[in-house]
Amino acid sequence: MSKFGVGGAHPGGIDLTKEILKTEEINKTSRILDVGCGTGQTAAYLAEQYGAKVTGMDINPIMVEKAKNRMRKYQLPVEIIQGSIEKFPVKDGNFDFIISESVLSFVNKPTALKEIFRLLKSGGRFIANELTTNKRLSPTSEEEVKQFYGLDSVLMEKDWITLLEQTDFKNIKIRMQKQSMLQYNTNSEFQYSEYIEPELYAVMHEHFNIIVKYEDVLGYRIFSCTK
Ligand SMILES: C[S@@+](CC[C@H](N)C(=O)[O-])C[C@H]1O[C@@H](n2cnc3c(N)ncnc32)[C@H](O)[C@@H]1O
Repeated sequence: MSKFGVGGAHPGGIDLTKEILKTEEINKTSRILDVGCGTGQTAAYLAEQYGAKVTGMDINPIMVEKAKNRMRKYQLPVEIIQGSIEKFPVKDGNFDFIISESVLSFVNKPTALKEIFRLLKSGGRFIANELTTNKRLSPTSEEEVKQFYGLDSVLMEKDWITLLEQTDFKNIKIRMQKQSMLQYNTNSEFQYSEYIEPELYAVMHEHFNIIVKYEDVLGYRIFSCTK
């Protein structure tokens, strides 16, 4: 994905991001962290639209470079940091909002959620758009999905809620139940790398095959909660 430089690499894309953010009380004094910011499309939008103090972080160096290029190109004062949300060396209570869009599935979820909780101010908000299964996958299907995406688990809505509760988040709300991954992103953006290995096209193709194959089962949810 980093070689293709997919912007808005989450279900619903930037259009859904804008809609969700409208319901939050963001202003120019807000400090916001975009976890797993990818090429920085959401982080750039937050800085442009709200004048907020935005930090984007991502583990992938190619994503980090592309996000930095975006901020330079549009002269946006967004800080982009390479790191892992499983251990992100920034002081406690630094952010009013933390957003993660299709990131938590790829990490150790309890560890990352604890880190997000630590980084939020008291009363701060966490908003997530994450892969969620609409029903339990059969063991073979679950293995296929986990193997392909490199996930340690594929969660149902109630599993996410349990994890958020265990992390001590309050006021947990869920929007957009039973959304299909096929409504993925109608407004895609690409920042291609100069060289893309031919096998990566096959991987992208396989990704779309899996989404079609599990259309009824694989979905996503928008979670919001408060520290
Ligand atoms: C599906 S992409 C989503 C990117 C971006 N949020 C978006 O919507 O366009 C997942 C992103 O999570 C990043 N990521 C994976 N593991 C991570 C970790 N431990 N810490 C931070 N970012 C991570 C990947 O590098 C990738 O950019």
